[in-house]
Parts: sequence; structure tokens; C-alpha cells
Amino acid sequence: MSHAEDHEGTRRDFLYYATAGAGAIATGAAVWPLVNQMNPSADVKALSSIRVDVSDVAEGTQLTVKWLGKPVFIRRRTAEEIEEANAVDLSDLPDSDARNANLGAAPASDANRALDESGEWLVQIGVCTHLGCVPLAEAGDFGGWFCPCHGSHYDTAGRIRKGPAPENMAVPIAAFEDETTIKLG
Ligand code: FES
Repeated sequence: MSHAEDHEGTRRDFLYYATAGAGAIATGAAVWPLVNQMNPSADVKALSSIRVDVSDVAEGTQLTVKWLGKPVFIRRRTAEEIEEANAVDLSDLPDSDARNANLGAAPASDANRALDESGEWLVQIGVCTHLGCVPLAEAGDFGGWFCPCHGSHYDTAGRIRKGPAPENMAVPIAAFEDETTIKLG
């Protein structure tokens, strides 16, 4: 095989692997329970806000809803997850949340990121801040989320701890409207 042919072969292999990789990612994303609970008639500002019924979300699980074209993770955390997030020394965190306008001033404390006072609910844009893949829950070295695309590890508060992602997962504007309804936006 000439050098040129060899080179072409390498490039074909690369394309093959790149395609296979994309397929694997798409399959991974598809196993997420992506539930689109958008209810336009319930909200005149349907395009910018949605209401999500979280009454069926069990502790230790999360609901993924699509909002403004992006997945949003609504996680009902266990006591251990909350404890782990609170035990982290803030000086160990690569990102302080300073760029997240919805959180006001840093630091990226768990109390600052959680939706409610008990810390049980955590709402985040489910997009890796590296290149935009959807991270997997209950995975990675810190028990939070893991992005398999290039190996970013997030902790149980969605804060980046290891890998190429530069920022914590973004926390959107969200609030409990009643005991079982979270309003996004
Ligand atoms: S997109 Fe998540 S690590 Fe690269």
C-alpha cells in the first residue's frame, strides 16, 4: 500500500469511528425519559415558560423535560446526594457560577444552586458546558453526572469537578408554583 492509500485508509477509519461515536451518543440520549410536558394552553407565555408536574418524580430520580429546545434535568435528590454536595470545599470547585446571572453572586454553594430550601430539588439545563452533549445521571467520579463525549464529571450539585467542561451545568430560572408544580422561566 502506498503512503497516499494508507493515509486515505486512515481518514476513512477516522470518519467511520466519528460516525459510530455519534450514533452511540444518540442512542445514549434516547434512553433518557425525555418527557415533553409543555402545555401551551396553560400558559399564555408558553414559549418562554412551562409548568412541569413533578408529583411522580421519586427520590433519587430525575425527570428530563424539553424547554426552549434544551433538555432540563429536574432531579429529586436523596439525602446522601445533598450531603455530598454540601460537604464539598468551595475552593475545590473549578467554576464559581459567577457567569450564571440566575444565581446572582457566586459561590457555587449547593444551597445557592438548589431550587428549594431543603435542597431536595435541583433544576439544571442538561447540557454539558464543554461542547453540548447531554450528561448521564448517577455517573462519573463524583456521583452526579458524567458526560461521555470527552469525559466531564459533575458532582451531585451539577458542578464541574473534572474534565474539559469549563462551567457548572447552568441553573435556569425556576420556582415551585405549588407543591407539585415547577415553573421554568
Ligand atoms: S461535550 Fe461533554 S465532555 Fe465534551
